[in-house]
Order: sequence, then C-alpha cells, then structure tokens
Amino acid sequence: MTDLPLTGRARPDRTPHSLAEWRALGGYDAVERAFTIPPAQVLDAVDAAALNGRGGAGFPAARKWRFMPAPETSPGPRYLIVNGDEMEPGAFKDRFLLEALPHQVIEGALIAAHATHATEIIVLIRDDYRAAIAGLTRAIAEAQAAGYLNAMTMRVHPSAGRYIVGEETALIAALEGGRAMPRKRPPFPAQSGLWGRPTTVNNVETISLIPHILANGAQWFRALSHTEEGGTKLYGVSGRVRAPGLFEAAMGTTARELIDRAGGVSGSGRLLCFQPGGGASAFLGPEHLDVPMDFGHMAKAGAMLGTGTLIVLDDTACPVEVTARHMAFYARESCGWCVPCREGLPWAARILRALEDGSAQPEDLAALRDIAAEASPRGRSFCDLMGGAMAPLASLLARFPDLIDAHLHRGCPLKGAG
Ligand SMILES: Cc1cc2nc3c(=O)[nH]c(=O)nc-3n(C[C@H](O)[C@H](O)[C@H](O)COP(=O)(O)O)c2cc1C
Repeated sequence: MTDLPLTGRARPDRTPHSLAEWRALGGYDAVERAFTIPPAQVLDAVDAAALNGRGGAGFPAARKWRFMPAPETSPGPRYLIVNGDEMEPGAFKDRFLLEALPHQVIEGALIAAHATHATEIIVLIRDDYRAAIAGLTRAIAEAQAAGYLNAMTMRVHPSAGRYIVGEETALIAALEGGRAMPRKRPPFPAQSGLWGRPTTVNNVETISLIPHILANGAQWFRALSHTEEGGTKLYGVSGRVRAPGLFEAAMGTTARELIDRAGGVSGSGRLLCFQPGGGASAFLGPEHLDVPMDFGHMAKAGAMLGTGTLIVLDDTACPVEVTARHMAFYARESCGWCVPCREGLPWAARILRALEDGSAQPEDLAALRDIAAEASPRGRSFCDLMGGAMAPLASLLARFPDLIDAHLHRGCPLKGAG
C-alpha cells in the first residue's frame, strides 16, 4: 500500500474504481485480514496507531470504540454511522474521499463495524453531494454482490442539508425521522444512540484510514506523522492562495508548508492571518506559521485543527468581513434550541455587517464584546455550534482591535484593496 493512504490510490480525475480495479490495487485485503482476527485485536491496532478522529474534535478513535458496551451485556442491534455531512465553511475533504474512493470508505466501515460489533452501517452524506451518494450506493451493491459485506447491512442516507445534522446527536435524531436537534450528553451515543441502541459515529476520513492501519501496521501509520498523532491528514487550503486545493500530508505539517504547496499567498502576497481549522476556528498570525498543524499543537496555539481546513487571508482581505460571512452562516444554521445561540449569533452577525458597511456605533461594539464573552464558554449550549461560531469572533476582537475601531462610522477601510 502507498505512503499516502488516503489519496494514494485515487485516480487523477477522481472517478471511482470498479470493484475489480479496486481488488487489483489490493483493495479488501485488509478487510479479509481483519475478519480473521478478534475485534479486540483490531481495537488494539487502532489504539497503537494513535488515530484521532478527523471529524473536528480529534477524539482518539479506539477510545471511542471502547465506549461501546460488550455485545453480551447489550444484545441486539448496534450501529456504526459514518458521518459525511460536511458543511463546515471551506471543507471539502470528505467529498473527495466519497467520490473518488468509495470502496476505501466501505472497507474502513466494515473493519470498524467488526471492531465495535455493529450490526448495521449507515453512511450519512450531505444531500448536495449527489455524485458521492450515487457512487457509494453503487459501490456498496458491488461489494455486497461479491460477498464482502457478509451479514452486514450497509446503506446510504442523504442528509436533509443543514449544518447541524453533522453534530452526532442531531444526526441520530434526523436518522430517526425527527427534527435534527442536538441533545445533552450523557448519555453518549455508545450508551444510547440510534433507536436507543449502542452507536458509534465516525467521520469519513477517520474511517478511510482504518484499512491502512490493518494492512501496514500501527507503527507504519504512526511514522507517517510529524508528531505524536498518527497518520496523514487531508488538509484543504483555500482563501488567498494561488492554487487552492486538497493536500494529503503528514499529520503536523505546518501552515507555512501547506501555503507553499498551495502556490503561496495571493493578493498582496503578504500573509495577514489564517484560520487553521475552517470557519469555526480562531485566527492565527504569521508567528504561528511553523506550528505543527495537529490537534494538540493547534489547541495550544489557541485555535483548533478541526477539519484541517486552512483559510488564508492576505493583508488586503478583511478579517471582519470574513468573520461576518462565517457568522451569517452559523446564525442561519443554528437549530434554535439553545437561547444564547438562537439570539446571540444573529445579533453578532448584524453587528459585524454594520461594522462592514459603516453603520455600527460604539455601543454595538460593546454589545459584540458582550456576546463573545457570554457565548464563548463551553456549556452554554448543548452542542459546539455556538462555541465554534464564537472562536473567530473572539480572536478577531483580541487580535485586530485597531482594525475594528477603524470600521466604526466609516465601514471597512480595506474595501477595494484586495
Ligand atoms: C455543528 C456541528 C456540525 C458537525 N458536522 C460534522 C460533519 O459534517 N462531519 C463530521 O464528521 N463531524 C461533524 N461534527 C462532529 C460530530 O459531532 C462528531 O464528533 C464526529 O462525526 C465524530 O467523528 P470522529 O470521531 O471520527 O472525528 C459536527 C459537530 C458540530 C457541533
């Protein structure tokens, strides 16, 4: 197998392989091997590989799997849900995996289901990803006809198209036919998930890495990384770069290296700041260009790796404008269940817009600071949508006070600069 486990077998034009072509590349070997070893041993391999979940929070995959109760203590249906809802602003990595490498997703899901004693696999895919939905459905039928699914049921569920559906408890509510609302945890899905049964939710990228750990070993996987967190990472680089795109690189690759791979900073060519983990991560500055981009190092730097979606701003791009656009998205996508989120995000979005167009007053700025202070701490809402929306706002207020002041009364001083 290749040293680029996620993308190494993809065709340049992203068209998926037939089952026969996938087999010729060594596909399903890891599944056959995994099925000959006990689930506990698969768990140990994933543990030793130091694989952190790629859905945003970076939670260790094996530790999550170990939360599932033993089948003897909880007989009956158990679920593995593969999360392909992907609506984070700037994120497009799962789309690539689902479209170009559907059999890799199936392989990983079969191994994860084996390790967690799941009886059914459901892949929830963002509704807009039509090619991914059709391609994975086709690939599942092929794998089933060839006998790779054994007794496992595996199906695709198109998501209703709201960002909140990606949050695991809201996702479960949506699969049950209800409105996609997050709920308080505990109970965690492993204790009481889909239809009240033990459930594991993993991201598409997390799942896609599993076959390679089984095929090549935990040590090989760890050695791919620059840091203690195993494997490679699919980084998306967008914003003010010359050649935006998706890059598979060692976990812990720096923003400097990734921006170079994306052709360098465009616009003025001078970096102002970047968001390392998509629209819901704080802004970091040029002083952070050499910090390894893994979950631990990004958290220590005051941001988060999230989905590994690097958004770059040159010094003619306005971070107030960028935050305003993100905030408008999160305000629209709030499910409205928790009051600070339902009320705070639209309010913040209106003030940011007013700053941009020059109609904001000093008291609006004071209100914006209040919202950031009240809504940022964890525990004020059932899910992390609000906390994520506040991260860029809080760092905007801390990092660019002069630029924000310059917006008062006059609007964006950078308008037309970039
Ligand atoms: C508002 C919100 C949206 C989310 N959207 C996604 C998503 O689209 N895909 C995803 O994998 N995880 C998403 N998550 C994280 C999931 O709740 C969950 O942690 C993840 O699917 C677990 O996968 P992992 O352990 O493999 O990282 C979202 C979380 C929040 C709070």
